Parts: sequence; structure tokens; C-alpha cells
Amino acid sequence: MIKQSGKVKALDDEIHKQQDLDMDVEFDIHFGISHTRWATHGAPSPVNSHPQRSDKSNEFIVIHNGIITNYNDLRKFLESKGYEFESETDTETIAKLVKYMYDNRESNDISFATLVERVTQQLEGAFVLVFKSVHYPGEAVGTRRGGPLLIAVKSDHKLSTDHIPILYRSSGKDKKSGGSLPRVDQDTCLFPVDMKAVEYYFASDASAVIEHTNRVIFLEDDDVAAVTDGRLSIHRIKRTVGDHPARAIQTLQMELQQIMKGNYSSFMQKEIFEQPESVFNTMRGRINFDDNTVTLGGLKDHIKEIQRCRRLILIACGTSYHAGVATRQVLEELTELPVMVELASDFLDRNTPVFRDDVCFFISQSGETADSLMALHYCKERGALTVGITNTVGSSISRETDCGVHINAGPEIGVASTKAYTSQFVALIMFALLMCDDRISMQPRRREIIQGLRVLPDLIKEVLSLDDEIQNLATELYQQKSVLIMGRGYHYATCLEGALKIKEITYMHSEGILAGELKHGPLALVDKLMPVIMIIMRDHTYVKCQNALQQVIARQGRPIVICDKDDYETVKNSSRTIKVPHCVDCLQGVLSVIPLQLLSFHLAVLRGFDVDCPRNLAKSVTVE
Ligand code: UD1
Ligand code: BG6
Repeated sequence: MIKQSGKVKALDDEIHKQQDLDMDVEFDIHFGISHTRWATHGAPSPVNSHPQRSDKSNEFIVIHNGIITNYNDLRKFLESKGYEFESETDTETIAKLVKYMYDNRESNDISFATLVERVTQQLEGAFVLVFKSVHYPGEAVGTRRGGPLLIAVKSDHKLSTDHIPILYRSSGKDKKSGGSLPRVDQDTCLFPVDMKAVEYYFASDASAVIEHTNRVIFLEDDDVAAVTDGRLSIHRIKRTVGDHPARAIQTLQMELQQIMKGNYSSFMQKEIFEQPESVFNTMRGRINFDDNTVTLGGLKDHIKEIQRCRRLILIACGTSYHAGVATRQVLEELTELPVMVELASDFLDRNTPVFRDDVCFFISQSGETADSLMALHYCKERGALTVGITNTVGSSISRETDCGVHINAGPEIGVASTKAYTSQFVALIMFALLMCDDRISMQPRRREIIQGLRVLPDLIKEVLSLDDEIQNLATELYQQKSVLIMGRGYHYATCLEGALKIKEITYMHSEGILAGELKHGPLALVDKLMPVIMIIMRDHTYVKCQNALQQVIARQGRPIVICDKDDYETVKNSSRTIKVPHCVDCLQGVLSVIPLQLLSFHLAVLRGFDVDCPRNLAKSVTVE
């Protein structure tokens, strides 16, 4: 979101020369902020975009990720004080409020960080904020509550510390300074020794900064970070029990190359094609295919407790929810526990009863989805054991769950999730295998699944080789308005996920339909014009799926069938098939979803849309 650097040559009129008081070093400071706004309040338009400002002369500007739930009250208050609003955003109240705090300051030496702290005390909701002001030239102040914020540090020179102590306002030192923050000095902030060049980046996600540096500081809720004269300090109002008194600089393992597109036209396409490796990486070091054992380092201390629980509740949003739907059956089979799969928003709306002997899973690629995070807080309050299945080390869900599994799929950049889905799928299967590793009656099934996982990456490669065929199919379908996707059993999730992919990036209407429900309504949609895709695999629902195929054909439907490549009967009965290799029934969903990922990608390209950044959607939805 922002970058501040010392010793950068003057580039434009936003650059302010600062005199460093302690060291007598002259600094060139360059500081800019920007934000891609999620339209929560007001339409996407120039006046509603960020930064929002305090007034026409831009005394204070702010960028904001999240929602201010009490913005109406704040706006009324500020309007009553004569502040004139120009946008429909909740964010504008923050810009006005900081100016109000400044206009009503008790002394002229109040710091920017103190003003921001005063503002956040008035705000309700979830927010990540970065501020800039003409009254504090070259200073950057950022804070968070209920959303992710990190500060990346780039310098070729030695830094003063690798742990930045927190400055608490309620310390004795502070009282002397009449309520403003304790003094930022050599011992309390981060800077390059000898005051050499340094760059700071405030961002909500590490992938935004990794091309510049892999050294980052993750902020906690209510931390206020300030960069002044090239020095970073971190402030909090008061210290509470259990608070860590410092923030460490961490070194990320993420490689730049992992987030580059390479030869692909979009991140989504790259991520679809990465799945042989990403699925392999999910299993790496965790499955021993020779002795059929599974080790999940993140669960080993909790597995006994999980085995004693009353039920498993899988909670997630979007694609991550579908990973729960996809693995529910095998989880029920191998754990012999009742398994509920819940959309986080609906789970909260219902005030779902949760008990101490429940185990609640939070499946999330980003680990930052607001609905999932709130559901996590809800379950923690009720004493349930919480388990994260996340792709992002250091994310809120990863940190706040009692234990969990990192899926290790590598950064996912495309808004439409693909490789995270297949890796979440595999991670949940590994969990199910772990739950029954001492059950003698389950061993043949366990071995079958583990050996199925062993060949899965190669089978994924085989499915990906159908790309040209699927591209041809897309050229026939791309002008259609609607696509129905039908299946049942293990593949109901594939239908939901395929339809979501198509909706998200092609803007075509698409519905995932449980084939068992066909005669209860959806069959009315079928005629010779309606595009239908059916998934028919050779598992326990095969005969029922054949019946569904016949029902669709009887209404003059001409379904495209995704089927097992050796299933001659289905190939014979269908006008068009996409033939995928066969694997163990409960893993087949990893293979059946890939043709639909590829299809949605090609449809979006043919329709001329931006595959990675679909309209109205965001990668991490950190608002309710
Ligand atoms: C860990 C290391 C991995 C190393 C391996 C070697 C990390 C992040 N992972 O992997 O680099 O190769 O040991 O033994 O350092 N957790 C949660 N919630 C989540 C996800 C994870 O609480 O949503 C916790 C786990 O309970 C665990 C820790 O985070 O305590 C790391 O989890 P994970 O990376 O899955 O563990 P390992 O596979 O053991
Ligand atoms: C957003 C994304 O809506 O959040 C989806 O656009 C994603 O692709 C959903 O499935 C849930 O995200 P996460 O990070 O919690 O898995």
C-alpha cells in the first residue's frame, strides 16, 4: 500500500526534506499511498476511491481496507461540526475525524501516531488504515483492527534491531510528556545504522512486497506503526496481560518467482497448471508412501483430543467451503463422526450451537476472510477446539486457531481460487487418514487412499493435457448465457466449484446442481438449447448418475459428460465427453474439477475478461 524511503532522490513535489534531530543527517523522503477499494459503501467511482481526504486542501488523507460500522453516527457528528462530505464512503469519516482531532489538539507538539490512536478509539468495525498529512510531512502512520497489515523493510545496510519494542502510552515516561507518545529514540525504533537508505512498505499481503524484500513485521490489532525521518516505531495505548512487548522482523521464505506469471497469460492459468506440484507440496514430508503413514506436525499434539470430540464442523467461504463439501463424505467414513459443513456467514447468522467438545475447522486460502475469522472467534468463545487449514503462514486464522495444517500450495494470486482448492482437499484427506491410523478395520481403505495420493500428481498432469480439447469446447460455449453443471456424491462439490469458477470470471450464469434433485425442479430448465455439463464417475452413485443422464437426454438435452476414460458405456451414451483418468473414489474430485477450472479460464479469455481480477470481487474479503 505504501512505500517510504530515505535517501531517495527528489522526484516530485510530495518530497519533503527533513532534518534528523539526533543525527544531523539530511533525509530525502518519498512517501505515497494507494489502495484498490472494495466497494462497500458507494459505487466504484473517482469520488469514492481512495485515498479519502479530510478537506479540499488534502490536509489528511487515508486509505482503508475494511468497514466502519458506526460511520453514520460519526458522519452526523462531524457534519454538525461543519465538516462537508463529498463521497458516499465510510472511509471519508476517518479522514475528517483525524482532522477534527488535529483541529482540536491540546498542544502543537502532538504526534501523528497519537492523533491516529485517538481516531481508532472512536471507530467500530474492521479496518486497516494508512495515513498521510501535510502537517506531518514525510511521515507515514498505519494501524489495523480485524484485518491484516504488515510492514516490509528494505535496506542494504545493517538495521538497528530485529525486534522493535512496543511503546506504550500508559507508561510512566508518557505521563511526563503530557499524554502524547513516549519519545521515539535510538532504543525504541528501527532504522538502518548510520542512517543509510531504507524503504518501508505497508501492505496487507506479503505477495505485494516480496519483489522488494522478504523482511517483514506483522502488526497485531491496535498496533500503530509510524515512520518518521526514516525510523519505524510501534505504539500501543496500554499493555495487557499476555501481550508480547516487541514485534520481530521475520524473513519470509516466499520466492519472487513463485508469484511471477512466467509463460502463462494469467496467474489463474499458471496456478491451474501448477497443481501437480502444489498438491505434491501439500503432501511433502507428511506422507510416507512406503509404510502408509501420515504425519501432520501441526496436529500431532491435538489429535487425541480431536479423536474424542463429538462432531467436526467445517467452516469456510467460497471455494474453501467447497473443499469442505468435497471431503465431507470421506471424513465421515474415516472418522465415524458427524461432520457439518458450514458457510461462515450463515453459521453466524444462525447463532449455531457450538459446544466444548466440538472441533471446528476453518478452511481459508488467505487466512484473512472476515466471515471465517468471525466464526473462529465465535467458536473460541464457546470453548471448541479450533483447527485451521490455511495457505498463508502468519495469517490471522493460522495464528488464532489452536492448531492446524498449512496447505503449502504456494502463493495464490488469481482471485478465482484453483490450486488452493485441490490442496485443501488433500490436506483434509490427510487429516481423515490420521484420525483412523490406529483402526485395524480401516487399514485396507487407508492404504488404498494413500496409494491413490501417491499417483495423484501424475494423474493431474494427465488431466491438464486435455487443455486443447477444453479450449475447443470453450469456443463452442462462450456465447451462451448459462451453463448447468450436474453431479452427485463426491462430485456435487465439483459442480458447485465449477459453477462458481464460471460465474466468477466469465460472468455467465452457472449453477451446480445435485443430480438427485433434478426431478425436484432443475429438470424444468433442460431443453435442447440449455448447455449442460454432467459429471459421471465410476463410484457408488454411478447407476443413479446414468439415470440422470437418461433423464436429461430424454428432454433433448445434449450434455457434455466428464467421465472416467475407461467408462465405455457413458462414452457410448453421450454425444460429447471429457475423459479423465480413474483414481480412488474419494480423490476423484481432485481430477474432475480441473476440466471445469480450465473451461472457466478459456471462457473468460474468449469473452474478453480480465481472468485474474474479475469485476466486483477481491482475493481476500476482509469485510463482512
Ligand atoms: C512445520 C514448518 C515447516 C517445516 C516442518 C518440518 C512452519 C510454518 N512449518 O510444518 O516449514 O518444514 O515443520 O517439520 O514453520 N497452525 C495453526 N493453524 C493453522 C495452520 C497451522 O495453528 O491454520 C499451526 C500448527 O498447529 C503448527 C504450526 O502452525 O503448530 C505449523 O503448521 P504446519 O506448517 O502445518 O506444520 P508442519 O507441517 O509441521
Ligand atoms: C473470496 C475469493 O471470495 O474469498 C474466493 O474471491 C475465495 O476465491 C473466498 O474462495 C474465500 O477465501 P479464503 O481466503 O477464505 O479461502
